[in-house]
Amino acid sequence: MGSRSRVSGKVAIVTGGNQGIGRAIAEKLAEEGAIVVVGDLRDDRSSGAHGGEGITALTLDVTKEVSIRTFVDEVLQKFGRIDILVNNAGLVMHKTIDDQTAEEWDRLMAVNLRGPFLMAKYVVPEMRRQGGGTIVNIGSVEGFMVNPWHSAYAASKAGIHGLTLALSVDLGPDSIRCNTVCPGWIDTDLNRAYVEMHPDRALIERELGQLHPVGRIGAPKEIANAVLWLASDDSSFVSGEMISVDGARTKKISLPAILDEEYRAKLTKVQA
Ligand SMILES: NC(=O)c1ccc[n+]([C@@H]2O[C@H](COP(=O)([O-])OP(=O)(O)OC[C@H]3O[C@@H](n4cnc5c(N)ncnc54)[C@H](O)[C@@H]3O)[C@@H](O)[C@H]2O)c1
Repeated sequence: MGSRSRVSGKVAIVTGGNQGIGRAIAEKLAEEGAIVVVGDLRDDRSSGAHGGEGITALTLDVTKEVSIRTFVDEVLQKFGRIDILVNNAGLVMHKTIDDQTAEEWDRLMAVNLRGPFLMAKYVVPEMRRQGGGTIVNIGSVEGFMVNPWHSAYAASKAGIHGLTLALSVDLGPDSIRCNTVCPGWIDTDLNRAYVEMHPDRALIERELGQLHPVGRIGAPKEIANAVLWLASDDSSFVSGEMISVDGARTKKISLPAILDEEYRAKLTKVQA
């Protein structure tokens, strides 16, 4: 039996699913037969962004407890159960510790860390009532290693990793699993600003690719494939894991450029 039948008919929530990684996750789960509810700041029903079969879009602000309560109630009214929670909504800030204000720090934490905690808080009672469920968080390789000027972002993602460990332990006895997918560099709006900072886009893209032993950055659907596995019964004995999906980027130790020339030349051939 493949994954298709294993999420087929299950009700799945995807936060921040209007675009980027969340959208790819929503589309993948729906394609595999799940009943998907996307919760995002804007309700994209009118724009047709979620015209796809099996996807319902509802308004949700994960920073507001009342919005989460209303959203979860609405999902239960419409579909009667919740089997899968994907905590994907997130934002990034590029700020030095000197420039980062406490208000900005709180705003980022409210989306990236407090949001997943609150979503779990309101979804878990229903999963428990049903006899089980699965939570998949979108963490980041930046929960392990960091880019410069990412103190708030890196702290929020390391926090997600800690929350994953805690929920896997606390909710295991309720047959609720919790895991985290840690994406590497994925082509979405979130980090497109980085690429657009430089006039030579092709050069930046080539160099970004070279940071990954597979020679390229990732696509949202490659994260969605990992989420599907963790959301499905195919991973039924996996809980409390942080799984990097990063083309081995975090496995390679940096070398002085001059000593790395041969390896980079090989990657250039892969990219050609
Ligand atoms: N793109 C990457 O390279 C990358 C790498 C590692 C981790 N991630 C993580 O993946 C997740 C998705 O990132 P993405 O690249 O698709 O970003 P994105 O900016 O393209 O999409 C983020 C989505 O979250 C929604 N959102 C923001 N605040 C929200 C709120 N308060 N309530 C509900 N929805 C809200 C946005 O409206 C948007 O639709 C994030 O958690 C991000 O940290 C991304």
